[in-house]
Amino acid sequence: MVPKCSQVKPIDTKLIDKFSNWYLEEWGIPKERTISRLVNHPDDDVLVQLVLKVGNSIVATGGLYNNTGLTLIFPKYTALAPWIAQLYTDKHHRGKGYGTILLKSLEEYALQLGITQVYLFTSTAEKLYLINGYKQVERLKYRDANTVVMEKNLF
Ligand SMILES: CC(C)(COP(=O)(O)OP(=O)(O)OC[C@H]1O[C@@H](n2cnc3c(N)ncnc32)[C@H](O)[C@@H]1OP(=O)(O)O)[C@@H](O)C(=O)NCCC(=O)NCCS
Repeated sequence: MVPKCSQVKPIDTKLIDKFSNWYLEEWGIPKERTISRLVNHPDDDVLVQLVLKVGNSIVATGGLYNNTGLTLIFPKYTALAPWIAQLYTDKHHRGKGYGTILLKSLEEYALQLGITQVYLFTSTAEKLYLINGYKQVERLKYRDANTVVMEKNLF
């Protein structure tokens, strides 16, 4: 049976702490910033944060957000939202399809909200998104990394 994602709630502090460690290690995001974002859960920013659990293991997380750091450097992207971002699979569980499940679950959640177009950017996992129907919007340099901005029409 395909494992299902569930919604991370602001009271899930242990989970949020785990994600803040993942995000710190992967992207250098200060722990306090992740904790504040997910605990305060401002409605105009975090539309949802999902978690994928398999048995007793927390294997992946990711979110749908209205804001992204990209817009600080490329203000034209403030016009686009929401963004699928901070998709992360635990290192011991990669390559088993969990990232894909998370991605599809975020798309389904967006559709339930009536959102038909989502965006993302990546410097590491373009293949994952191409396989899942994302199209290139633009290639650019972001934080010294070759990055591609992508979009998908969910209809
Ligand atoms: C990207 C990430 C979330 C993928 O998670 P995962 O659970 O391994 O993903 P899946 O098992 O569903 O992989 C699906 C496909 O994407 C490809 N893929 C996954 N991660 C990839 C990566 N880093 N680079 C290139 N391709 C990748 C896989 O090859 C796989 O295709 P295949 O089975 O045909 O080979 C995971 O590698 C990760 O957490 N990386 C560090 C954080 C990161 O870069 N996140 C993406 C931010 S945009």
